[in-house]
Amino acid sequence: MKVLFAASEAVPFIKTGGLADVIGSLPKELAKQGVDVRVILPKYEGIPEKYTAAMELVTSFHLQMGWRQLYCGIFKLVHEGIVFYFVDNEFYFRRQGCYGYGDDAERFAYYCRAVLDALPRIDFMPDVIHCHDWQAGMIPVLYRAHFEYQEHYAGIKTVITIHNLKYQGVFGQNEFRDYFTLGDEHFHGNALELHGGASFLKGGLLYSDYITTVSPTYAEEIQTPYYGENLDSLLRSQSHRLQGILNGIDYEEFDPMTDPNLEINYRDSMPKKLLNKNKLQAWLGLPVDKDIPLIALVTRLVDQKGLALIERVIHELLALDAQFVVVGTGEHRYESLFRWAADTYPDKMSAQILFDEGLARQVYAGSDLFLMPSLFEPCGIGQLVAMRYRSVPIVRETGGLKDTVLSYNDETGEGTGFSFTHYNAHDMLYTVERAVSLYRDPAVWSNIMANIKKKDFSWGKSAKQYAALYGALTR
Ligand code: GLC
Repeated sequence: MKVLFAASEAVPFIKTGGLADVIGSLPKELAKQGVDVRVILPKYEGIPEKYTAAMELVTSFHLQMGWRQLYCGIFKLVHEGIVFYFVDNEFYFRRQGCYGYGDDAERFAYYCRAVLDALPRIDFMPDVIHCHDWQAGMIPVLYRAHFEYQEHYAGIKTVITIHNLKYQGVFGQNEFRDYFTLGDEHFHGNALELHGGASFLKGGLLYSDYITTVSPTYAEEIQTPYYGENLDSLLRSQSHRLQGILNGIDYEEFDPMTDPNLEINYRDSMPKKLLNKNKLQAWLGLPVDKDIPLIALVTRLVDQKGLALIERVIHELLALDAQFVVVGTGEHRYESLFRWAADTYPDKMSAQILFDEGLARQVYAGSDLFLMPSLFEPCGIGQLVAMRYRSVPIVRETGGLKDTVLSYNDETGEGTGFSFTHYNAHDMLYTVERAVSLYRDPAVWSNIMANIKKKDFSWGKSAKQYAALYGALTR
């Protein structure tokens, strides 16, 4: 079985969000299942030089986009046993970051074309092209429109995974006509048309052979108007070929026992975890006290993450006998909220408005609780890493958070965290209060730790589900 992952980011090369973690770790697990999986990414400026210097140029050619002939180089690098290809065109990708440019439609149209044009030239004809998110969403459309009947290309199946339905790649129809050489038959409500424009993601959903998303609960939610981002009726109509497969995390990469970012490695030893906590408190300038619960947020500072709930009850939260640390960057509104809170309550809040993987690991290790009250959450990776580092998640029951965190039950002693149902600031506050008070009950806390320890959020099971899906599609 040969599978090509087409995605716009992957750890360790370039990352803006959880997608990169998935693309950086799932292929290794699929390889263990016997799948020959390779990955193709844009070759961005931000990829560290130690990787670019080790890449080799496999081929270069010109591809046709609209009326233009455009240079395309394909570089290759084998990383941890997985072959990664990189699409090189300096005009499109030699820029900071990944997205957010005025010509993103053209940049990712070019990427989608390049992926298909590259296949015979890199001598890798996959059985399945597995596309991730809108940036790769037009690959199935291009395949159906221009490649399916070409020599070498017959019989390829396409899968698209939705990592976040909110981002749909909507641009003007004229751009689509030009970049993809598509006629009128592709621009109506049952095809690419969306909100008067056209959408990369919608194209992927309609023209691929199968749709997955990153948790079973999110797969259900996106078929409802509340979570469906205006595509719920389309998704309901496709529910026979839509499945939620839960993300895992790389248990070798995220391992407090071997993590080089920690001075004191540990796995189940509470005393050692507390040493990490005290170090962290000192470094953050918070009172060093093992009995005060330290609550962490490691996240992009955007609405999706439920930060409006925190904003709403910030004074009540900071009145609790607890400490908070925030690590992340994002919307100005939230960056300034946390900066203000840290200035006003320096003994209670530390705001680290930056993204630093090493610091993030120290925060997972040094915190007691991990707050993630998301408005919606396709899967969520933070809560999985937190549990691996024995930081107890407090989450809203949505998407993958609902599928991975079981709220503590006083009666049965079951549970791996704390959760609330409604997107309501006082429900969240009440849940945080409950967690803070149970933190002071050692019997309960060690029980929760024991429950977390029994859970397995590594990729094994989900990788088997993907492998089974590829098998079913190509049979
Ligand atoms: C997106 C989603 C997140 C998910 C990740 C990887 O970042 O917001 O919930 O875990 O993709 O699938």
